[in-house]
Amino acid sequence: MRVAAYERYGPPEVVGIAERPAPEPGAGEVRVRVHAASIGAADSAGRSGTPWFARLAFGLRAPKRPVLGSDFAGIVDAIGPGVTRFAIGDRVFGATGAEQGAHAELLIVAESGAIVGLPAAVGMTDAAAICDGALTALPFLRDGAHLRPGARVLVNGASGSVGAAAVQLAKRLGAEVTAVCGPAHLELVRSLGADRVIDHTREDFTAARDAYDVIFDAVGKSTFRRCRRSLAAGGTYLTTVPSFAIMLQQITSKAGSRRAVIMFTGLRKDADKVPDLEELAALATSGAFRPPIEREVPLDDIAAGHRIVDSGHKAGSVVVRPVGADSRKAAS
Ligand SMILES: NC(=O)c1ccc[n+]([C@@H]2O[C@H](COP(=O)([O-])OP(=O)(O)OC[C@H]3O[C@@H](n4cnc5c(N)ncnc54)[C@H](OP(=O)(O)O)[C@@H]3O)[C@@H](O)[C@H]2O)c1
Repeated sequence: MRVAAYERYGPPEVVGIAERPAPEPGAGEVRVRVHAASIGAADSAGRSGTPWFARLAFGLRAPKRPVLGSDFAGIVDAIGPGVTRFAIGDRVFGATGAEQGAHAELLIVAESGAIVGLPAAVGMTDAAAICDGALTALPFLRDGAHLRPGARVLVNGASGSVGAAAVQLAKRLGAEVTAVCGPAHLELVRSLGADRVIDHTREDFTAARDAYDVIFDAVGKSTFRRCRRSLAAGGTYLTTVPSFAIMLQQITSKAGSRRAVIMFTGLRKDADKVPDLEELAALATSGAFRPPIEREVPLDDIAAGHRIVDSGHKAGSVVVRPVGADSRKAAS
């Protein structure tokens, strides 16, 4: 099988195509022929080894795992002994988390892992993108913000994969949504359902006072300190990007009237991700949720995908297609 592999931290070009023996599924494992896998911020950090704390997860001196990629969609093409949840030919999608390995033609996943059946109505590219953005945005809004209908929510970085999912999910949960992004993506975030849009190059959203019940900085460009006064009393500030300050503020702000929250959704238990994947698949099937796709690239062009992610200005997800070329229109 062909994989996108790297041996040292560096720019997109450190990832190259390599041949590997096809892996065989062991007991309780399935082998997935990967049709689509997202290339996200975590893959960019794992490839470049920056920021420095990424190396705590990816390997201190050199990468521990040669094949990146967590979010996948594909077709089960072999099953190991004892597998009961899946059969050969099933369409599936999910996330391997810290195990990585999805930027490859074949991927081994435990059937007890974060993997569920993929409805025929949802294309492979969309499925991989759902894991990239919505599988993070959903727990942030539901479990971090305890979002209630009528809440005033601001999403910063609303055109990114996490932010675009947050806008759609917050609207669905009954919130009134203000979306912040750059000028090129204002129309996109409006089309996702945002009630109001702010161009971050023209307006500083932190100038507002007591304006929001939830500020979700999906792209991690703000700080709790700067946003605090824009929150209403009892409001919640959420960010996806860790810093020493936010870790401390998460502890110290609990007793106060405005909370700071950081979560690490990729580290959640697989058993907690499974119902979320099922819920998101149902939303995508009904048309209530659709992830924007910035670009699809073939496996051979994976470095180009990394370059787009590195730019920090993609709209939605970048998806690599190790097998086949069906797009969001096709079912397999
Ligand atoms: N903690 C967790 O569990 C967790 C899980 C997943 C991801 N993450 C992190 O979440 C972050 C976001 O991921 P993502 O994939 O959604 O990112 P992304 O898709 O790369 O986000 C890019 C978007 O952010 C917007 N943006 C850039 N600078 C901005 C600014 N100063 N103000 C407002 N918007 C700005 C850009 O819009 P314009 O081009 O229009 O400016 C672009 O559309 C990453 O750092 C990732 O590592 C954390």
